[in-house]
Amino acid sequence: MKRPTITTESGRHFLTDRIREEVNFYLTSQSQGEAPPPIQKPVLPDARIIKLPERNSWTITPCDLLTAIADRQSHRKFNVDPLTLEELAFLLWATQGVREKLHEAAVLRTVPSAGCRHPFETYLAVQRVKGLDNGIYRYLPLDNALVYEREVTNLPGDLTAATRGQRFTGQSAVTFIWTVIPERTEWRYAEASYKVIALDAGHVCQNLYLACEAIGAGTCAIAAYSQTLADELLGVDGDKEFCIYIAPVGKIDRQL
Ligand SMILES: Cc1cc2nc3c(=O)[nH]c(=O)nc-3n(C[C@H](O)[C@H](O)[C@H](O)COP(=O)(O)O)c2cc1C
Repeated sequence: MKRPTITTESGRHFLTDRIREEVNFYLTSQSQGEAPPPIQKPVLPDARIIKLPERNSWTITPCDLLTAIADRQSHRKFNVDPLTLEELAFLLWATQGVREKLHEAAVLRTVPSAGCRHPFETYLAVQRVKGLDNGIYRYLPLDNALVYEREVTNLPGDLTAATRGQRFTGQSAVTFIWTVIPERTEWRYAEASYKVIALDAGHVCQNLYLACEAIGAGTCAIAAYSQTLADELLGVDGDKEFCIYIAPVGKIDRQL
């Protein structure tokens, strides 16, 4: 794929909303009557599905919102304690959980998304979660479940390499790796999609920060990663779907 050159001029232009004046919204896939892309990436018939604990069964006691916001910070040192499946379910719900299914083309979630397009898939590199084998999983928000994607022989090494040598990623209990499927947003916004996709990603990661703080865990946003190695680790094609953001999570020793 030929890579376009980004200049200061084109980069700043990307951050403005002038693109909206340039896009012909009568020609978008949605305006042309094309069916929207699936809300959730499909699962193979023989896939291993792991149901997550339902919200009404959770026994965790997250701290209050004021404390979570006040204490939020990036954590790059994790202890060896595992997360429970319930804690993981909470973090997944906080970042991409479904609030309400409106119709086949749209679900409301715990985070906002431009045009309700929700272009992300959440992959997990699991290393210390009670009840889960290590490996790569994908969250199925519509089913409140995980699908086991693949075994990885050297997850600490691969995670460190995929984040350009940031070793704390390899030491995480679980690393959230978000991919984007741009077509979900392009269906409605065409070339005006890319800025709003980047904005959408920020909301997801901020909710992870706050949810982690609330349960004695910590995370750190990572945008410096190897596109090739991250996409390879997940087994995504790097074009129709590719990694956009990474966040290692682990339990932390609270400084009182
Ligand atoms: C978009 C984005 C990308 C980031 N990428 C990295 C990264 O690759 N590695 C890292 O150690 N921290 C990364 N950070 C964390 C920032 O360094 C951190 O938020 C900043 O130093 C402020 O610290 P605080 O989060 O504790 O307030 C990133 C943060 C954001 C929002």
